[in-house]
Amino acid sequence: MPHSTEPQPLTARRSGPLTGRVRVPGDKSISHRALIVGALAVGETRITGLLEGEDVINTGRAMRALGATVERVGEGAWSIRGVGVGGFAGPAAALDFGNSGTGCRLVMGAVAGCPITAVFDGDASLRKRPMRRILDPLEKIGARATEAAEGGRLPVTLHGARDPLPIEYEAPVPSAQLKSAVLLAGLAAPGATTVIEKEATRDHTEKMLKHFGARVRVTPDGEHGRRITLEGQPELEAATVVVPADPSSAAFPLVAALIVPGSDLILEGVMMNPLRSGLLITLKEMGAQFEQLSERNEGGEDVADLRVRAGTMKGVDVPPERAPSMIDEYPILAVAAAFAEGPTRMRGLKELRVKESDRLEGTAAMLRANGVEVEIVDDDLIVHGKGRAPGGGVVATHMDHRLAMAALMMGLGSEQPVGVDDAAFIATSFTGFTELMRRLGADLL
Ligand code: S3P
Repeated sequence: MPHSTEPQPLTARRSGPLTGRVRVPGDKSISHRALIVGALAVGETRITGLLEGEDVINTGRAMRALGATVERVGEGAWSIRGVGVGGFAGPAAALDFGNSGTGCRLVMGAVAGCPITAVFDGDASLRKRPMRRILDPLEKIGARATEAAEGGRLPVTLHGARDPLPIEYEAPVPSAQLKSAVLLAGLAAPGATTVIEKEATRDHTEKMLKHFGARVRVTPDGEHGRRITLEGQPELEAATVVVPADPSSAAFPLVAALIVPGSDLILEGVMMNPLRSGLLITLKEMGAQFEQLSERNEGGEDVADLRVRAGTMKGVDVPPERAPSMIDEYPILAVAAAFAEGPTRMRGLKELRVKESDRLEGTAAMLRANGVEVEIVDDDLIVHGKGRAPGGGVVATHMDHRLAMAALMMGLGSEQPVGVDDAAFIATSFTGFTELMRRLGADLL
């Protein structure tokens, strides 16, 4: 576990052209959901391409502790024998989700519909993150939560509902984790559970539940929103899941290739789900050069090979309604913005303050430490791009994998090296990151 080991500093230096063909690991969101829904289904679920990062491994351990049989049968290949909807058993010890908000919050939802008690805990970063937003609707369903600290911080003891109630819930914040927790709790309730979101967030839970045989209806609601209704108490039947490459991980080598002169690389099989594609839209507007090759469907998701070439970019205005489709991509977009000409204003980033770290402050500090001019105005981040970054700083990553990877990508194109205080947390989401980047030609040491 990264939080129990020594910090692992890492430095990136200006590199020659990044070239080659690589596939980043499986999508983190889909990997968590495949394990959880597989654990609630009857029969043997087979997963291929599972992300074997620490966040997902912790979710797998939690599924085992709750009574499912979870086995690794090969590289990225896993077999799950589930317990059926409502069938989780009380775990013998606290469930430790490490660094993962997604794992913790989705499993809270899945446990809330079962008549058991479980303690949820995580590392120092996860213990700072708000859980009340999840516990409020779960209590409406009939679960009861007692938290150790104010504001619903971990550790939390959750008593699942004996007779879960179907609810209609309007999400106060755009959050796929919140939506997913409510839907997973609603599985065990009789009748229809509905979540209304004002801005559509990633739809992997809805798709996964349908894939396992649940009835889920999705209808538009307002200009950007959706209404998602799940028919409760479905017979979830085991399924085969193929996990596509994670676009949020692909974002790092993608932006590195844009900012390191002469680069030309291919990222294979990247998921093109429109609710995850905000970064690609924004980079296109900035003038980035990439093409989507061999577009195809794999395991129910559109995927493509992305060919990316270095080139010049210009600053743009990123509207707030785009945030849910690129919520994890702002640190790396901010790096691209530093290498663009002119200001980039990223609007409506309030949710970034409650990620693995305060990513709004962390991203600004990362750029400032490396000579890039940046401002935070209300919830907006403004990067004054000069087509280059001086570098020379050491970035505090605050247990945040995405800040660490973004900072290192900046170092590959900046004039002086960029260091990070701790690269250990990269293993939560991107297994083999350093090796993959080195294979493309990155100078990381
Ligand atoms: C995720 C949802 C997002 C994202 C996280 C993964 C998911 O969080 O930041 O990395 O898999 O549902 P929110 O839904 O809380 O914005």
